[in-house]
Amino acid sequence: MSDYSKGLEGVVAAETEMSFIDGQKGVLEYVGIPIGELSSKSTFEETVFLLWNKRLPTKSELETFNKDLRAAYTLPQTMIDRIKALPKEAHPMHALRTLVSALALDDKDPNNIELDVLRHKSVTILGHAPTLIAYFDRHRRGLDFIKPDTSLGFAQNFLYMLNGEKPTETMARAFDICMILHADHGFNNSTFAAKVIISTLSDVYSALTGAIGSLRGPLHGGANEGVMVMLNEIGSVDEAEAYVMGKLERKDKIMGFGHRVYKAKDPRATDLQKLAKQLAEDTGNSELYAKSHRIEEIMEREVASKGIYPNVDFYSATTYHCIGLKLDLFTPMFAMSRIGGWCGHLLEQLEDNRLFRPAAKYVGPHEVAYTPIDQR
Ligand code: ACO
Repeated sequence: MSDYSKGLEGVVAAETEMSFIDGQKGVLEYVGIPIGELSSKSTFEETVFLLWNKRLPTKSELETFNKDLRAAYTLPQTMIDRIKALPKEAHPMHALRTLVSALALDDKDPNNIELDVLRHKSVTILGHAPTLIAYFDRHRRGLDFIKPDTSLGFAQNFLYMLNGEKPTETMARAFDICMILHADHGFNNSTFAAKVIISTLSDVYSALTGAIGSLRGPLHGGANEGVMVMLNEIGSVDEAEAYVMGKLERKDKIMGFGHRVYKAKDPRATDLQKLAKQLAEDTGNSELYAKSHRIEEIMEREVASKGIYPNVDFYSATTYHCIGLKLDLFTPMFAMSRIGGWCGHLLEQLEDNRLFRPAAKYVGPHEVAYTPIDQR
């Protein structure tokens, strides 16, 4: 039995060719390409192809991938009916988790995880995800559903289906960059959850359902919603100091800071900060950006020495707000992109599967006599 590591910190339990992280230097690469290169030059679709194939596509490969993904924007009527049956007050993450699970019910061969079949299912689920989220949001707002526009890319089409009008080029590109930045991140909690589930040779729907459940936790992807709650609680830039110091004194966590792997600034936060600043200026949200930046300054002064810096969720909150997304859609945005990463990891896992089954260190008593119920 190897050494006990609470929370599996530092334990290496699989190999991956998808993303590389140097937490001390603040480096993230997808298949060797620095994340900043991808966020400035690539698209979400191309990035997913890269993650699944471990190389960039040729022009015709990308065209085929885009065509297949766009064909999957349209939901079957069964799913549309299920969305309409959901309670309007449900949180969109609970709705998304339920709907991704329900996709198995329409699949004639749901348990088939042969690699080529899994690839095909992955395209379908990834293509469906924006429509599921946009339609649930319109359902709860009592609005008609907008049919997907297959002439639009993944990010652009989502905003179109959500709002009923095509986003500006700037907004669409900003959102596309968010999708690229959230697509993959090594052996994070939700990816681990997905891999644990598929390692039993279960199905893709179960694995993704588990991953979505993991992601929504406030210590993981749910932190982006927590950041926005915090920004709303802080009335003005001047109130940030007392707010943050009060939380730190009470030993409360500041959402959007800290990371199990990064002990330097998360490179995705650096990219998102630039995006948040620009979008805030463009959309009249400069005060929101200023609050975020002030929080970062205070945290830098107080806890950077402990290796606590902004993570991906911190500036994504301001970015998503400026794009016009409602607070409870922030984590579904993360999930929508990360389905790309999760599916890539499922493929990797099944290429060389071994059941995940760690051990627990037993710390209870031994050889205890059984006490009959009337003597307890
Ligand atoms: N605010 C204040 N203090 C913090 C924070 C924070 N955000 N994060 C860590 N710390 C402190 C802890 O209080 C602890 O201090 P102590 O040693 O004095 O007790 C120390 O740093 C270590 O923290 P742990 O929670 O033990 O570190 P762990 O590696 O388990 O945590 C985690 C990582 C869960 C991300 C943590 O930093 C956190 O809770 N952050 C806030 C939630 C968040 O933003 N999550 C998103 C992460 S990115 C993602 O999942 C996509």
